[in-house]
Amino acid sequence: MSAEILDGKAFAAKVRAKVADHVGRLKAAHGITPGLAVVLVGEDAASQVYVRSKGKLTVEVGMNSHTHKLDVDTPEVDLLALIKQLNNDADIHGILVQLPLPKHLNEALVINSIDPAKDVDGFHISNVGLLGTGQKSMVPCTPLGCLMMLREHHGSLSGLDAVVIGRSNIVGKPMAQLLLGDSCTVTIAHSRTRDLADVVRRADIVVAAVGRPEMVPGDWIKPGATVIDVGINRLDAPERGIGKTRLVGDVDFASASAVAGAITPVPGGVGPMTIACLLANTLTACCRANGVAEPEGLTV
Ligand code: GUN
Repeated sequence: MSAEILDGKAFAAKVRAKVADHVGRLKAAHGITPGLAVVLVGEDAASQVYVRSKGKLTVEVGMNSHTHKLDVDTPEVDLLALIKQLNNDADIHGILVQLPLPKHLNEALVINSIDPAKDVDGFHISNVGLLGTGQKSMVPCTPLGCLMMLREHHGSLSGLDAVVIGRSNIVGKPMAQLLLGDSCTVTIAHSRTRDLADVVRRADIVVAAVGRPEMVPGDWIKPGATVIDVGINRLDAPERGIGKTRLVGDVDFASASAVAGAITPVPGGVGPMTIACLLANTLTACCRANGVAEPEGLTV
């Protein structure tokens, strides 16, 4: 069997087009332009790439983009003061502090200082609690993107066995909550899980989010299962030339795609959905802040 490839790049483009359409209507009908502020502390190379990409795509969907770049040794009080200023700015509807932060900054304190209504990452403790209790919240972007792709492929997820490999606050835990919300039977597996292969073999849906290159082989996958690979791991690829690298997921694509019913590739799977969902969340936050109807299908 050869799996259907779930094209996240194309799906993300559709989500962004839908966001752009709604932004156009918000402007025309209400004179409101959603604004997203992204805060980057330090010079982490990967973070710089993500932040640039976020800014570019924010402008492309017709929103205002504000990027704040702070020195690596910025004192915590200065970062908290900036967040307070953004919280109080009516033109800013979404605030994202790029992670990881430099070690001297208290990540939980910083995240929890963001106004929950503007927390487009869905990392604030209030949003975590709202999601966990099935209430309206801001939903973390990567899990939201995964859920959108799963719903698009399956229609209903009700009653399916889902395994999430990885228990991070950014992906694993919120992903499990979302799958539970869609009535899956959910297992969260992690580095201490006994007989991970056996656990994964029972799953109709596998979401791999561990950050270990190609750790899930095809013979762990139940024939016909849907595999969502959240991993983005850069490996050296000397066969491509000196200093060259290649991206791989947490799943061994070659063997898994021979068994699965559907699978997301890396790159071009979940990755592009994350920023599309960030834009969707910013639009959702803007609509809620202004008491305007939210677009359908862009959040849970
Ligand atoms: N770093 C890696 N992924 C993310 C994310 O989804 N949000 C933020 N703020 N930082 C990240």
